[in-house]
Amino acid sequence: MTARSDSPSGPSGSAAEGGGETLAAVPDDLLHGLLDAEVRGAASAIEADFEALPAAERKLVARAVAGRRREFAQGRLLARRLLAEIGVPTELLLRDDDRVPRWPEGAVGCISHTKDLCAAVVAPAAGGGSGPIAGVGLDVEQATPLAPELRARICTHAERRFLDRGDEERAGALGKAFFSVKECVYKACFPVLRERWGFHDLEIELDPEAERFVATPLGGALARRALEGWVAKRGTWWIAGFSWRDAGLAGRPPEERERTSSS
Ligand SMILES: CC(C)(COP(=O)(O)OP(=O)(O)OC[C@H]1O[C@@H](n2cnc3c(N)ncnc32)[C@H](O)[C@@H]1OP(=O)(O)O)[C@@H](O)C(=O)NCCC(=O)NCCS
Repeated sequence: MTARSDSPSGPSGSAAEGGGETLAAVPDDLLHGLLDAEVRGAASAIEADFEALPAAERKLVARAVAGRRREFAQGRLLARRLLAEIGVPTELLLRDDDRVPRWPEGAVGCISHTKDLCAAVVAPAAGGGSGPIAGVGLDVEQATPLAPELRARICTHAERRFLDRGDEERAGALGKAFFSVKECVYKACFPVLRERWGFHDLEIELDPEAERFVATPLGGALARRALEGWVAKRGTWWIAGFSWRDAGLAGRPPEERERTSSS
């Protein structure tokens, strides 16, 4: 997570984006062993040339500061490369009014960036042996501790009880993992469901040793379903990933999804 604004007044492009700091090197195999079978991913430092993007993509962030333009360009570059690799090439990756990338028909994907890392995942929507993939999520975060006041905002009571079982160092570290998981699941589900969840709308059970999580939406179309994904600390980052397969639910209008989930 870094900038959330494409306007010049947004937070990116400042010292907080890494200007003047020594940035961590990104190993080529950062995602190795983490991704689900049909998901293809890549991670890299943020070094793309914004001017090399197609004009229609540049226009989307034309008013943003330099750091935001760079991370946007890096995400587009990685995503385009991955889409070509899975046989769904596209020249343009535009976005909708909710800022969700318009993945080409036949593919699902997700992009995430921090000040010094960009990563993307894509998958063929048809999936493989286990059926169609409705969405994939990815989130990368700096592995810095999550402060106690933010833990209270982001974590549910049950999650806080889990964090309170250890010392402050553990709570800060795993608090950030909770945050990353919630962002990742949200980003995988929102493009299909268009439900705006708050942090307490999703309850996470974390197994840090196994690098796995189970996320349970407390309401909405996926209420009480157990959604499984992975979360791992690699280098100086937390990385979380998730994919879900309920294409039947994904294909139905919201009223019908609500009926299905509560029946
Ligand atoms: C969508 C959101 C989660 C993005 O996450 P972030 O941590 O700020 O930033 P990341 O770098 O990880 O991801 C940004 C990328 O996600 C994609 N994205 C943006 N909005 C999205 C959405 N609503 N759904 C899916 N993907 C989205 C874009 O590709 C974006 O990068 P780009 O603009 O360069 O193309 C966040 O901005 C947001 O809307 N949060 C409010 C909702 C929330 O957090 N609820 C609690 C979760 S349970």
